[in-house]
Amino acid sequence: MLNVLLAGASRGIGLGLVRAYLERGDRVFAVARDPAGSAGLTELAAQHGARLQLIACDLNAPAAATTIRAALGETRLDRLLLNAGVAGPAAQDVASVSEAEIAQLFLSNAIAPLRLARALAAQLNTDAVVACTSSVMASLQLSPGADLPLYAASKAALNSLLLSWAAQLGAARDFSLLALHPGWVQTDMGGTQAPLSVAQSVNGLVPVIEAAAGRRDCRFVDYQGQELPW
Ligand SMILES: NC(=O)c1ccc[n+]([C@@H]2O[C@H](COP(=O)([O-])OP(=O)(O)OC[C@H]3O[C@@H](n4cnc5c(N)ncnc54)[C@H](OP(=O)(O)O)[C@@H]3O)[C@@H](O)[C@H]2O)c1
Repeated sequence: MLNVLLAGASRGIGLGLVRAYLERGDRVFAVARDPAGSAGLTELAAQHGARLQLIACDLNAPAAATTIRAALGETRLDRLLLNAGVAGPAAQDVASVSEAEIAQLFLSNAIAPLRLARALAAQLNTDAVVACTSSVMASLQLSPGADLPLYAASKAALNSLLLSWAAQLGAARDFSLLALHPGWVQTDMGGTQAPLSVAQSVNGLVPVIEAAAGRRDCRFVDYQGQELPW
């Protein structure tokens, strides 16, 4: 039974990943701003009992890592899945975005995930997997983010920080690091016109995450296991 921590668990892809790991028989620590307000988490807690532990935490709060470490106690993690993200302002225009909007976007999508990953690294088991939910829009080579340039830039910043951390850790790193593209998925963020259901995305993501265990690699990869150019 693996110990899996999923940050950004209240709905969408994160909730789907929580469900999938519970159905595999693993133990899941699900971090959400308001777990009691999530119908999905409430339903899973009723079904899976003590194998699901809910942790109330705003991941952007400076004390987020302290809150999560206190909830984990001595537990060591096999999978650390940093999934929370926001789309950012509707306008997506550098000319009109406010300082508060841009700070919120980059804090949510790039800074907070890496800050938490680094803070929890000491609690990882050997051969763990740390996976951040990125986006194909982060790819500088593919540059498919024309419609959402600020969101794309925030996910590129996430990938950049992930690569910098991998470089800083060097050969001492005994876990895999993944930047994951979940596909275009029917969620509040992805919208109803997206081609993939949450279940289809998650059914691809879980094997991709599991295949990385023990490999100690650092990859940008989609939900079908396809390598993406950084
Ligand atoms: N859907 C797609 O097509 C798609 C494509 C590529 C990448 N992605 C990425 O996939 C990830 C999940 O997206 P989704 O489509 O499932 O989006 P979603 O339905 O909008 O869900 C976003 C999740 O992130 C959580 N979250 C955001 N900020 C948080 C914070 N400060 N503290 C705690 N939780 C926070 C939300 O919690 P609350 O309920 O509290 O707001 C929610 O659980 C994101 O990183 C997104 O950028 C999505």
